[in-house]
Amino acid sequence: MARPAPFALPPVPRPARGQEATTETLSMTDSASTGAAQTRRYEDILVVVIDHPPVNALSAAVRRDLSNAIAEAQTDTRVRAILLMGAGKNFIAGADIREFGKPPQQPLLPDLCNQIEASAKPVIAALHGAALGGGLEIAMAAHYRVALAGAKLGLPEVNLGLLPGAGGTQRAPRLMGAQAALDLMLTGKHLSADAALAAGLVDALASEEDPLDAGLAYTRQLLALNAGPRRTRDAADALSDRQAQLAAVDAAAERIATTARGLFSPARIVQAVRAAIEQPFDEGLRTERALFLQCLDSPQRAALVHAFFAERETAKIPELKEARARRLERVGIVGGGTMGAGIAVAVLDAGLPVVMVEQDDAALARGRARVEQVYDLLVKKGRISSDERAARLARFTGATNYDALGEADLIIEAVFEDMAVKQAVFAQLDRVAKPGAVLATNTSYLDVNQIAEATRGPADVLGLHFFSPANIMKLLEVVVGRHTAPDTVATGFELARRLRKTPVRAGVCDGFIGNRILAVHRQAADMMMEDGASPYDIDAAVRAFGYPMGPYQMADLAGGDIGWATRKRRAATRDPALRYVQIPDRLCERGWFGQKTGRGFYLYPDGARQGTPDPDVLAIIDDERRRAGVAPRPFTQDDILSRYLAAMVNEAANVLHQGIALRPSDIDVVFLSGYGFPRYRGGPMHYADSVDLPRILADIRGFAAEDPAFWKPSPLLVALAESGRSFGSLNAA
Ligand code: 3HC
Ligand code: NAI
Repeated sequence: MARPAPFALPPVPRPARGQEATTETLSMTDSASTGAAQTRRYEDILVVVIDHPPVNALSAAVRRDLSNAIAEAQTDTRVRAILLMGAGKNFIAGADIREFGKPPQQPLLPDLCNQIEASAKPVIAALHGAALGGGLEIAMAAHYRVALAGAKLGLPEVNLGLLPGAGGTQRAPRLMGAQAALDLMLTGKHLSADAALAAGLVDALASEEDPLDAGLAYTRQLLALNAGPRRTRDAADALSDRQAQLAAVDAAAERIATTARGLFSPARIVQAVRAAIEQPFDEGLRTERALFLQCLDSPQRAALVHAFFAERETAKIPELKEARARRLERVGIVGGGTMGAGIAVAVLDAGLPVVMVEQDDAALARGRARVEQVYDLLVKKGRISSDERAARLARFTGATNYDALGEADLIIEAVFEDMAVKQAVFAQLDRVAKPGAVLATNTSYLDVNQIAEATRGPADVLGLHFFSPANIMKLLEVVVGRHTAPDTVATGFELARRLRKTPVRAGVCDGFIGNRILAVHRQAADMMMEDGASPYDIDAAVRAFGYPMGPYQMADLAGGDIGWATRKRRAATRDPALRYVQIPDRLCERGWFGQKTGRGFYLYPDGARQGTPDPDVLAIIDDERRRAGVAPRPFTQDDILSRYLAAMVNEAANVLHQGIALRPSDIDVVFLSGYGFPRYRGGPMHYADSVDLPRILADIRGFAAEDPAFWKPSPLLVALAESGRSFGSLNAA
């Protein structure tokens, strides 16, 4: 679809370089208000600076100050134009998310936007940093917009279960056309200043680096042209081809039926944009408001806002109060298999050099090839240029001698999951690493304390548990051992920051936070499988809950051999009172490890990535039921989910109770960012609170009647449920 014609924009000549207005050349005549939005008059321009750290979110105080400033400017005869800008790094990051769920305070944001738009004097917004959500809605209600380099413009409300509720669904289509506006709102993605100009969202790009300089220069040009108010509500061009606009809305409605599966707000965004085309502006605003309130009240909104804050909370750990990260310039990696290569790519992508050590030349060549393959694919997909590929690979060196790790500030071990092998590697690292180097293991399950014993400096050792594929998955469990020093932990968090990953602090236990809890609910799934549910029923139920795939699809993807090795390792210490389902072992004994072997729980003919159910697997399950003396019984989707989730929540409560995780919201982040738990349900702890803890406890006690050894209620769950408290109450503590 063609880009909409620019809407009645007066041609604004750029001043010659060197002649831009600067604060020094302007007479500053007033410095009236203080507070969340401060006003200052620069000759005939009233500058309103939103100053509400850290991100200028539109709190009630900001809205009130802004509204007062606009109102006063209307009657102040010295003022010809109003310039809106943000203090600090951003224009405005959006509505104040912390106010959601609290009683609304006047002025409401939609009313403030309408007030800005109705101004009799031109209002100009100078956009730098984040101009997101309600921030962009303020800008769209202004009459003119100038963006600075580095500005990020977006309507990311969908990520919080909302829609732009301050006129954004009505004004964005009038500026950009329905298709571009829907794209912005349904993906939540940010546009650069250039892209925003091309899309019609802003009128000009500033060459100045300072928003005040840029805004004043642009406003002066507008005043010189006698430009008056230009209201987005009256913009007609972008929506003039009504049929094409409606076709874009229909196409979006069709698209989200598959891409936004289970989500509440996308369909309402589409409805609101349809109203922008079909209804007069004020009616469209009322439609938007009604839809916004539906979203605001939805459990998905609460869950997604919880996830937003939970992700920012994980970095708040005791060690960072007392220690700072050590130097982190060079990274060593031992092992170039699936994980070592993925970690290498993640580190190279962050701009750091990598030395990879492998056992021999052949293994090293395979490790290097794995790294190269990732970049080849990125070049093929057009995500990076071949120059960029070469630049990243130039930071990569390989060796078969541990001495090559002598300069590394951090060494990450990713060799076979075997204690003896890992201890041998750490003994070598102890020999070659420079003093103060941090030594990390990527082990999935093994005891980090025992691994650290192979060194003379266990204070330098920690676990850095990446998830596969390590260059893509956001989660990084930072595992703190008995002797790990605070600055070693801080270095792990610093690595996560550089790699743009989400770090979660974990204590030492078998499987840390994520894999430990996974092992238990996977056990619940295996028991249901033996008792009568097929793996395909279980996967379907888990997908219906919102996971992208079920546990058996996941096992096939990860490779059944990994879990098999772990089960064999644990066999000697397994509690004989616990039921042990042997079905997965029967498949592994046949070499059916999943996708990589062409069959596992599913069949993958001719390298297919999507599996198909396998009658042979069902026959094996039947045999196992007979062997175990189980009479199969039916399981509904609800039966499956209540067991699966109760097992997850119960073990998560144990993990909390034992101090393996710092807070419930950290467990939520682990499952959201590492295991595919549906974000719109907020993570297992938030979900449990929303279901109600006494109900989950009652379920567990009911299941215990058939298997008391497995279904032991966690003491923490019992304490919370019986005292009417929630997991959420522990986040605040
Ligand atoms: N409201 C309240 N607090 C916010 C906030 C918001 N909109 N946005 C960020 N914060 C807080 C964060 O929680 C964090 O607090 P903390 O230091 O206590 O943990 C602090 O600001 C800094 O945030 P980040 O760590 O995320 O800082 P970055 O510099 O990495 O990122 C950002 C800045 C790009 C602005 C990012 O914070 C962000 O994306 N914020 C959310 C933007 C958003 O979703 N806006 C839409 C809001 S909904 C809306 O506007 C509804 C309207 O249509 C009616
Ligand atoms: P892998 O088998 O693909 O790779 C291991 C590599 O280590 C091999 O290339 C091997 O040659 C090399 N190696 C073995 N001993 C060595 C030594 N002494 N010196 C140098 N190199 C040596 O294994 P993968 O999957 O990469 O796993 C590695 C570690 O990461 C394991 O501890 C595993 O539990 C953990 N992990 C695996 C995940 C996965 O999804 N595969 C996810 C998270 C952690």
